[in-house]
Amino acid sequence: MKVTVDSRVPTDVAADLLAVPIGTAKRGKPRLSPRFAVIDRATRGAISAALGSGDFSGKSGESLLLYPSGGRSRAKRVLLIGLGDEAKIDADALRRIAGRAIGEGTQRRANRVSIAVPSSPADALPSRVQALVEGGVLSGYHFDGYRSKEDGAPRKPGALSLHLERGGDLRGTRAAARRGETLAECQNEARRLSDTPANDLPPAELARQARAMAREVGLRARVLDVPALVREKMGGILAVGGGSANPPRLIVLEHRLPQKKTGAKGKKTARASGPGPFCMVGKGITFDSGGISIKPSAGMDEMKHDMSGAAAVFGAMRACALLDLPHPVVGVIGAAENMPSATAYRPGDVVRAMSGKTIEVLNTDAEGRVVLADALHYARTHYEPSAMVDLATLTGACMVALGRWATGAFTNHENLAERLRAAGDRAAERIWPMPLLDGHKEEIRSQIADIKNTGGRQAGASTAAAFLSHFVGKTPWVHLDIAGTGWTSAPHAYQRKGATGVGVRTLLELLSEWDATTLDD
Ligand code: BES
Ligand code: MN
Ligand code: ZN
Repeated sequence: MKVTVDSRVPTDVAADLLAVPIGTAKRGKPRLSPRFAVIDRATRGAISAALGSGDFSGKSGESLLLYPSGGRSRAKRVLLIGLGDEAKIDADALRRIAGRAIGEGTQRRANRVSIAVPSSPADALPSRVQALVEGGVLSGYHFDGYRSKEDGAPRKPGALSLHLERGGDLRGTRAAARRGETLAECQNEARRLSDTPANDLPPAELARQARAMAREVGLRARVLDVPALVREKMGGILAVGGGSANPPRLIVLEHRLPQKKTGAKGKKTARASGPGPFCMVGKGITFDSGGISIKPSAGMDEMKHDMSGAAAVFGAMRACALLDLPHPVVGVIGAAENMPSATAYRPGDVVRAMSGKTIEVLNTDAEGRVVLADALHYARTHYEPSAMVDLATLTGACMVALGRWATGAFTNHENLAERLRAAGDRAAERIWPMPLLDGHKEEIRSQIADIKNTGGRQAGASTAAAFLSHFVGKTPWVHLDIAGTGWTSAPHAYQRKGATGVGVRTLLELLSEWDATTLDD
């Protein structure tokens, strides 16, 4: 979808569908912004007639399709979309408006969709346009590559144009539009990976795509295959991946990493200088059958999404490169397929993680934490990050606690967690703080090894986080459990059923004002 921004009169544009957002003002009455009077005139008063009739109220969620005839309008259809209370417009209301416009345009097989941008305070205009573009591009995502017949498949709009009030800062607004487009496209990449069936996305294929993406956008990629994982003594990821014919991989993506200094004897010394990079770590279980502790078959198909954390890291790293963030960022993905077989790890096994800690496996379905143990330790020891965030579809318990409404956040650093929560709010990807207590850590002590991979029946999301905390040392760290938010069966204006790509926008919100030196202020 080609996205453009200009300040033409909206009805002068030959669009197949022109979206006109209308909000409510005093006493909840719909208000046609004076800026849109020109649209009303060009449609021979069709809009004021609709408002006057009471058929359209401007409430959020409402819409009305009009077919202007006889007027000057070059737009074939005009879609009034309710913005809700004008005083309370936020970024997500705008994402939804554009999502609705593209959704309706798709249904009507409209190729050119345009949006009349409501007049906004000058300082709010760029962020509003960014949100509109995000909503439009996210709404244009369809996972339909597996359908052989063209008909039946939706025809996506080919162009989205935004028309601003004349006299605004067109340059600045266009930059914001590009930013929104990049973010949404990277989020769509995360959704595509998460939606891809497991038979087409084993760990090696995820690694291949990460390499190809890195080459395209200018990241450095490093992939550890099984011999390399053995050399690094990554007993966790090797144990989980051992049950599958599709071997595991550790995938590393680097953005603007300062080159390590080489010491006198050619030995690599620690980081060059300054604070360490920001590290994001993703759970990449390309399919989670549960392994020997096999899952019930109902809904098991959804476990193709068990690499949604990895997908978020992939998308966010891509965005870091495309937006050319000024500081070093590293993405680490632990990719494995959790399958039952003659070579699978078993309940009762004790495995030694890269850090040297021993893990008693009580349930092979608690595999994500076992993989993350190695991914987190690798990130920490190879990069000495100033902060780490991991994203993982880790526990059904977190889904029970928060449902689809929020991602659970567990941390050893309140300040970092609060920043991430605030970034999530700005991105409309809700994050909710969850406890990580000493008691949770006690729950995963093992009789025969250092720790065990499941706690008791209680506080399953917190004991999983307690397990991870063993592998982050003193690094400021937040664990995001996206089990309830990584994919959805409850669609809305810019999100259809399937993968959400949650995390990409939040991470970029956090990183866009990242300053590691103020982390402990
Ligand atoms: N990938 C699952 C968690 C999950 C389940 C995410 C459903 C989204 C929807 C994870 O690997 C898992 O199986 N967790 C177990 C842990 C338990 C065995 C301690 C769970 O939550 O039941
Ligand atoms: Mn599992
Ligand atoms: Zn899993």
